[in-house]
Amino acid sequence: MLRNRLSSALRSLLALSFIVFTATPIIAQDAANGENVFKAVCASCHMIDKDMTGPKLMDVTDRWAGKEELLKQWIKNPSEVKKLGDPYVTELLQKWEPKSGLMAAQAVNDAEIDDILAYIAAYVPPAPPKEEVKENGNGLTFDEMSLALLLVVGILLVILIMLLGLKAKLGKAIALKEEGEAKPSFIGEIIADIKYFITEQMNPTILVLTIGGIVTLPVLVIVFLNIQDLGSQQGYAPDQPIKFSHKLHAGKYNIDCQYCHTGVEKSKNANIPSANICMNCHKVVQSGPTYGTEEIAKIYAAIGFDPDKQTYSGQTKPIEWVRIHNLPDHVNFNHQQHVVAGNLDCENCHGNVREMEVVQQVSLLEMGWCINCHRETEVAIDNNFYQEHYQQVFEDDYNQFIKDNPKKQDVGIKEFVKEHKRYTIADLGGLECQRCHY
Ligand code: HEC
Ligand code: HEC
Ligand code: HEC
Ligand code: HEC
Ligand code: HEC
Ligand code: HEC
Repeated sequence: MLRNRLSSALRSLLALSFIVFTATPIIAQDAANGENVFKAVCASCHMIDKDMTGPKLMDVTDRWAGKEELLKQWIKNPSEVKKLGDPYVTELLQKWEPKSGLMAAQAVNDAEIDDILAYIAAYVPPAPPKEEVKENGNGLTFDEMSLALLLVVGILLVILIMLLGLKAKLGKAIALKEEGEAKPSFIGEIIADIKYFITEQMNPTILVLTIGGIVTLPVLVIVFLNIQDLGSQQGYAPDQPIKFSHKLHAGKYNIDCQYCHTGVEKSKNANIPSANICMNCHKVVQSGPTYGTEEIAKIYAAIGFDPDKQTYSGQTKPIEWVRIHNLPDHVNFNHQQHVVAGNLDCENCHGNVREMEVVQQVSLLEMGWCINCHRETEVAIDNNFYQEHYQQVFEDDYNQFIKDNPKKQDVGIKEFVKEHKRYTIADLGGLECQRCHY
């Protein structure tokens, strides 16, 4: 008996240790390595706690529960997994493919994927630095938001108090009146009461305050709602004067973005191409697969070209493209800095334009959007080593490093910066107000 029990206890102990041992590989996953791989490979499209070009990846293992292998396969080769027709994947693609295209196959192995998933599972959002503005999902600063709220609540309170006062006084007035006269009709009674109240009971201050309150309250509510709408132009895709298709030009015919948006690599603005650039091709290409000659004729009208005689009349009028992305004037955004120094692709911010029949705004373009990326993205040191306002940060860190490691005097500053430190844009002052605001 005793022996039996003992051995069964032993057996369960053995089983338990077996479970513990086989479970250890999970602990062996390296979230720190996962973070590095994620930042290098995935962060251009994904954030963990916010949708970007791709969906936020928080709790992704829950969404793929029971399909761990499929998830790995997905990351390594989405187009293969798409073909399998898994219902979850199909639903995911219905939501994301139209705006962002299909995720590209990622050059990562299974071990790296385990690390990435461990990093995602362990992710805690960074605490905001002290002096920084807190924001809510609308990109409104916290202070503005609470100020607006306070104002509305305050006014509501004042009005409530006034109404309570009014009710008490009305009650009294009615009681006074009821003693004498016979009752008129219900509505007539109310009108008479209000008239009596306004002419006999109301003092001018209360009158002004009441009317003031009634007028300002709706205005405030409208302003408040409008503030909330500010900047939420995401998804904006207006009709354009010519049905120009990026899917056809940049997708099917694979024309470089820079061919038309000539400014992206050398200036603040990307530029919308002039009709001259269209004419490089459309002098010859006079009809298209969808609209025949109709839409291309509008280019000719704009530039004063007669396709039959192949002559220019000299009379031109600009094509009035409707602007889609539009930051307020107080914001300083520079394409060259992001595309050349920052080495970002257009897709990072504009989504998969090559798939878009009509361009739409994919990103939020709110302050929080800029700041999140600046917090997460590492600066490509090679492109920036000589940037003046980064130098001080580099030098301070370097001096500290030499002080802490006197034996490493032979490490040069450039080597130190490139090999011993990782800088996000935020580390180099990319969250300072004046960098982005005039
Ligand atoms: C070029 C952009 C891009 C890159 C880089 C990218 N993804 Fe994606 N990812 C997407 C898009 C877009 C989707 C949404 C599905 C679709 O449209 O293909 C997606 C979907 C996913 C999903 C499914 C999310 C869900 O909610 O179920 C996972 C998981 C994922 N990506 C992981 C990764 C990992 C890990 C990496 C890096 C190794 C990575 N992705 C790199 C664009 C990208
Ligand atoms: C053949 C010329 C041409 C090419 C190539 C081209 N575009 Fe455009 N792009 C235009 C024209 C014209 C407009 C304005 C009309 C419109 O919005 O569709 C435009 C508009 C845009 C807009 C919206 C601008 C706004 O108003 O905010 C973005 C973003 C954009 N293009 C990105 C790209 C990207 C990314 C590529 C490369 C993948 C690209 N374009 C390739 C001609 C071109
Ligand atoms: C580098 C060459 C090139 C440039 C530059 C170019 N296009 Fe095109 N465009 C084409 C080609 C090729 C076609 C398709 C012809 C076909 O498939 O039959 C086309 C087709 C079109 C169509 C007809 C689409 C349809 O489906 O009927 C329109 C409209 C158009 N382009 C407008 C523009 C405008 C506006 C510009 C300038 C902003 C421009 N294109 C610049 C090459 C170009
Ligand atoms: C870091 C994000 C980011 C990247 C990367 C980026 N853009 Fe933009 N793009 C923006 C923002 C923000 C605006 C709005 C600018 C404004 O209103 O001043 C914009 C505006 C535009 C416009 C409208 C005209 C203009 O200059 O304001 C075009 C066209 C455009 N981008 C094309 C491109 C192309 C092509 C690429 C890739 C070569 C690219 N962008 C890369 C963020 C980006
Ligand atoms: C997808 C990521 C991304 C987004 C979104 C983004 N940025 Fe940046 N930004 C970068 C990178 C990367 C750099 C570093 C460029 C370099 O290496 O010099 C940068 C640098 C800058 C700088 C120079 C900072 C400095 O310290 O000198 C300014 C200013 C800036 N961005 C403004 C903006 C604004 C304004 C927005 C939003 C409208 C924005 N950025 C959105 C990635 C981003
Ligand atoms: C990385 C770029 C960036 C930095 C750094 C930045 N801002 Fe902004 N800010 C923006 C952009 C972009 C907008 C426009 C948002 C919109 O139109 O929705 C904006 C808008 C604002 C607005 C108008 C309210 C709103 O949300 O539209 C205020 C106020 C503001 N910023 C204050 C600040 C202050 C204060 C700081 C420094 C603590 C700061 N910003 C740092 C990019 C930045």
